[in-house]
Amino acid sequence: MQEPQSPNTDPLSTAGTRRGVYISTYGCQMNVNDTERMYTLLEMVNYEPVSRPEDAELIIINSCSVREKPVHKVHSEAGRYRKLKAKNPNLRIGVGGCVGQQEKGNLLEDVPVLDFVFGPDNIDNLPKIVQEMRDKNLRPVDAKFSHGEPYQIETLIRKPGVAAFVNITKGCDNFCTFCVVPFTRGRERSRSLKELIVDIQKLTLRGVKEVTLIGQNVNSYKSDCGANFGDLMSRVATDTDVERIRFTTPHPKDFNLDLAQIIQKHRNKIMEYMHLPAQSGNSEVLERMNRGYTREEYIEKARMLAREIPNCVFSTDLIVGFPGETEEQFEDTLTLLDEVPYESIYAFKYSSRPFTKAAKFTDQLDEVTKSERLTRLLAKHRSISFEVAKKYEQKILDVLVEDFQEKDSSCYGRSTGNKSVHFAGRRDLIGQTLPIRVTEAYPQVFYGELVES
Ligand code: SAH
Ligand code: SF4
Ligand code: F3S
Repeated sequence: MQEPQSPNTDPLSTAGTRRGVYISTYGCQMNVNDTERMYTLLEMVNYEPVSRPEDAELIIINSCSVREKPVHKVHSEAGRYRKLKAKNPNLRIGVGGCVGQQEKGNLLEDVPVLDFVFGPDNIDNLPKIVQEMRDKNLRPVDAKFSHGEPYQIETLIRKPGVAAFVNITKGCDNFCTFCVVPFTRGRERSRSLKELIVDIQKLTLRGVKEVTLIGQNVNSYKSDCGANFGDLMSRVATDTDVERIRFTTPHPKDFNLDLAQIIQKHRNKIMEYMHLPAQSGNSEVLERMNRGYTREEYIEKARMLAREIPNCVFSTDLIVGFPGETEEQFEDTLTLLDEVPYESIYAFKYSSRPFTKAAKFTDQLDEVTKSERLTRLLAKHRSISFEVAKKYEQKILDVLVEDFQEKDSSCYGRSTGNKSVHFAGRRDLIGQTLPIRVTEAYPQVFYGELVES
């Protein structure tokens, strides 16, 4: 396991001078975790996280390239920092994350204000990259995949809260035809089960009560000892003191009865929230997307999960306006909402991504059609989501308290089914799982009151 170097013995540290570092984060949970890792590594070489770019001597844009104009977003954010650099010649600005991986040195050519670029596989080199850049006045680019090396990466969190993300896999081998991730995160790799158990147990000793196991396709997890995702979840449930286990994102094609039964068996620890990205409700579109399942197979899997895991809460990702999607095919996505009781959906307009197969499909749809379909899909789900919320009113949910707001003395936490719940409480309730009666329920948020025993 890679142990972080201690700040006192680290030859890279600039003794005595604390410099501010500001990181802006886009994209998925991997990037959220990567940002935390960057802050931790940089703290060891005397960088101090600051909450405003104005106070920083190092700014990192941790970028995402999964949808719509990601390169443009990096350009415009970097542009906003130009003035800061004019005022502070010591300021250095870098790009990490998936746009960094995708564009590499092009970014430095196109955006003169940038000083360095690195990819998601090179985060652990960050202290070295930054030091070299300053000492030798270089504009480094470090965006090579570490394909040959085992994937060992202890979770680094400066001050863990109640809930933590834990990477179990990186990369993706599925090559859905619309998706850039296999190109920005490389081939799929799993951490070893042994390493993960130690890592998670260490987090619990630092106060973590809930872990979300993350990866692009968590249920294709395969440890070097042969353990699969179900084995991993069972072991986390039985061999660590973690109270709650969540996971994201599972791929529908890799969900089977065994896994559903393992979740149900460990229901006291494994939460019943299932984010099951469908992408489309039409079998021909699904085939052109290379998703590996038909509409019928997807619906059957969701029904199997609902049967095996009673009260399971579903959510999904959907793409509208995939190349060649006809009105009838889009309507199949609309009617998927009648088949699977999604409590929330994340719907996106298809966006052409570099290197992907679908970018070369000749039957791309116009923006007006895509926008109109997105509006219709969201409108349909909106009416469903109010009905869904209503069914929770007066229900008592087990809420793990994550936060407390002084200004209105309110606690925030999530239910087992991943509902955000606010209620009047106290700071010392953080970390406790409490029965909360829902008094007002809206699609995105619930308000409730503590049920006194
Ligand atoms: N690994 C996850 C998803 C990762 S990307 C999975 O397989 O489900 C998160 C979501 O972004 C995807 O589920 C998809 O709905 C959306 N997405 C990915 N590429 C897209 C594209 N080119 N255009 C629009 N949406 C896209
Ligand atoms: Fe992208 Fe598909 Fe992999 Fe998800 S499973 S990251 S959508 S290629
Ligand atoms: Fe975005 Fe990369 Fe995550 S493209 S969604 S940050 S894997």
